[in-house]
Amino acid sequence: MRLTDKFGRAITDLRVSITDRCNYKCVYCRTGNEGAQYADLPMADYLRMVRVLVSMGIEKVRITGGEPLLRKGVVDFVRELSLLRTVDGNSLDTAITTNGHLLADLAQPLKDAGLKRVTVSMDAVDPAKFARITRVENGYQNVTAGIRAARRAGLDPVKVNCVLLRGFNEDQIVEFGKFARDEGVVVRFIEFMPLEEDRVWSPEIVVPLDEILQRMSQFMPLKEIAHASSETARRYIFEDGIGEIGIIAPVSHPFCGHCSRIRITSDGKIRTCLFSQVDHDLYGVMKRGSDADMAAYIEKVVQQKEARHHIGEPDFQKPSRSMVHIGG
Ligand code: 5AD
Repeated sequence: MRLTDKFGRAITDLRVSITDRCNYKCVYCRTGNEGAQYADLPMADYLRMVRVLVSMGIEKVRITGGEPLLRKGVVDFVRELSLLRTVDGNSLDTAITTNGHLLADLAQPLKDAGLKRVTVSMDAVDPAKFARITRVENGYQNVTAGIRAARRAGLDPVKVNCVLLRGFNEDQIVEFGKFARDEGVVVRFIEFMPLEEDRVWSPEIVVPLDEILQRMSQFMPLKEIAHASSETARRYIFEDGIGEIGIIAPVSHPFCGHCSRIRITSDGKIRTCLFSQVDHDLYGVMKRGSDADMAAYIEKVVQQKEARHHIGEPDFQKPSRSMVHIGG
């Protein structure tokens, strides 16, 4: 069985959020106040949902949050995932998206448990700017230590996500280019999407792909390299062959036509798009029914996957949940 939606898109990529708590309050994501939170589920419940989805064609599982490393059972969860096999009999591609704050101590245990890759969110390479964005003290030291520990542990590649906001951190573009080269990480710039708790987003605040490329080329020319069609990032290497960057441009260059994702929220709901107006209560079905009931439900839900997002259009409606309550 291979999940396919009504537009013929194969669904191979799952993101599962294991908590919506976060120890950071990034200005483009959180309000700064303690907002509503959904209850986390027992790890065994996430595992059952993942297991059923893997039997239906999922090949990649990314663990998200909130901040997933706040969850105590995360290492054991990774160990369980690494025992699963895809419908083709291969091991899963497993990854975590984290803010990196707790990664220094967890990188090696996660690698030993079978994790393949990690992505660290980091929006400035300047410590003062980093503190202003995340609204925590001394995060920068922890995050850079986490990135280095991840590389030492052999998680490969280590990616760094940087959300660019005009007037806030677009002066960090070239600095991040240097960081990618010095630290041996792939830095990926992400266009800001309207997913925040507050209302911060406007078209003017988005730093688009063309501008990122232009600014980076003034530091050193870039060469575009091939990327898989289901991959969201366009990939570039510097002319001298040292360092790779990526640009994820959902606003200026939408890639919905190639979307292969679905998401499970920390309270066990399926989301078929970041911008969905509804979510689907897989957890409810699971509590009442069998794995076969879950599979039938998932198949039906996937048929409702949206064709595309409507960012920047007059009919755009904010999604029913913000990013911290969805997972990246
Ligand atoms: N637009 C784009 N990216 C975002 N992220 C969080 N909020 C947004 C947004 N509104 C990024 C985080 C993290 C990943 C899960 O998504 O920085 O790296």
